[in-house]
Amino acid sequence: MIRIAVIYGGQSTEHSISCISAGAIMAELDRSKYDIVPVGITREGAWVEGSLDPVGEARLPEVTMGREIQLAVSPTRRGQLIDVTSGETIATVDVAFPVLHGPYGEDGTIQGLLEMSGLPYVGTGVLSSACGMDKEFTKKLMMAESLPVTDEYILRGDDVLPEDQKARLGLPVFVKPARGGSSIGISKVTDWDELGAAIRLARESDDKVIIESEIVGDEVEVGVLEYPDGRLVASSPAKLLGTEDSDEGFYGFETKYLDNVVSAEIPAPYDEETIRQLKALAIETFRALNCTGLSRVDFFVTEKGPVLNEVNTMPGFTPISMYPQVFAADGVGYAELLDTLIQTALARGGRMA
Ligand SMILES: Nc1ncnc2c1ncn2[C@@H]1O[C@H](COP(=O)(O)OP(=O)(O)O)[C@@H](O)[C@H]1O
Ligand SMILES: [Mg+2]
Repeated sequence: MIRIAVIYGGQSTEHSISCISAGAIMAELDRSKYDIVPVGITREGAWVEGSLDPVGEARLPEVTMGREIQLAVSPTRRGQLIDVTSGETIATVDVAFPVLHGPYGEDGTIQGLLEMSGLPYVGTGVLSSACGMDKEFTKKLMMAESLPVTDEYILRGDDVLPEDQKARLGLPVFVKPARGGSSIGISKVTDWDELGAAIRLARESDDKVIIESEIVGDEVEVGVLEYPDGRLVASSPAKLLGTEDSDEGFYGFETKYLDNVVSAEIPAPYDEETIRQLKALAIETFRALNCTGLSRVDFFVTEKGPVLNEVNTMPGFTPISMYPQVFAADGVGYAELLDTLIQTALARGGRMA
């Protein structure tokens, strides 16, 4: 029996999505192999004893305060989850699955904590998590490898978009928090008069804001999975359908999770060469970012070929999320996918071990 801490919730705006992802994972994990220790993190950052069903009836679930626990940081107490009040060890786990999206989860911070504690964990390491979370650095690393990325301008602090940049980027533009996710804080701007409000909204999530020219093309997502022997497999690409059929007019938060208008065609209906190219680019991106375990690499497929949009180092695992779906389409079921992720984490081991 492998004892696994499934960690969910967290301090980012994607708190609820993390709870839904973790709920799906815990429901799919093979209980004859895994003893699950659920660990919730509240929006304030408190670690609490979690639940095997963190969603219940909620549409957007929340981790609420409960029995406070902490992970032992010292590798001499590797994997121990300790009741903060009594000091009692409630469980000793073999591996952690940080099912956390966004800052303080997908950005290298919790990965750093897990590294320090010597506990093996599912997913990618500190550097790749940090670079994957930050759209500025993701693209800088991709450009260094001559991989195609979207055109952008970065606003830091109170910067304003210079007039010559408006002319260069052209309308429409997408305004995004640099370290966001689930489309939270993103606007499509079709009139420069709307730019100020869009920047203010993005700054609610991050003081660094990215302004990008619109890319016209299909939205295509490719999963990458690492096997315990280090072999990397790219999934069939999924082409999203209906991303513009909502009030938002793009793949925004409501469109993604609430409106129920988006579906996917898997594999995407491209010729063999385009499919091969997308898979190869997904793997090149994974390597360029130093990823391990898994990632979902998102593209726009334009008339001139694929352009990288972003990398998700802990992609959604909700019942409607693409990462499990693309592998299912390739014959790797949800439970087998989880087994592979966990076996790869265990094969890599705790760095301090
Ligand atoms: N440059 C762009 N051109 C066209 N659509 C875009 C662009 N950037 C973002 N979008 C739209 O916004 C959505 C969310 O943007 P994305 O960069 O993927 O952020 P997140 O990390 O929040 O998912 C995309 O799926 C797409 O629909
Ligand atoms: Mg995205």
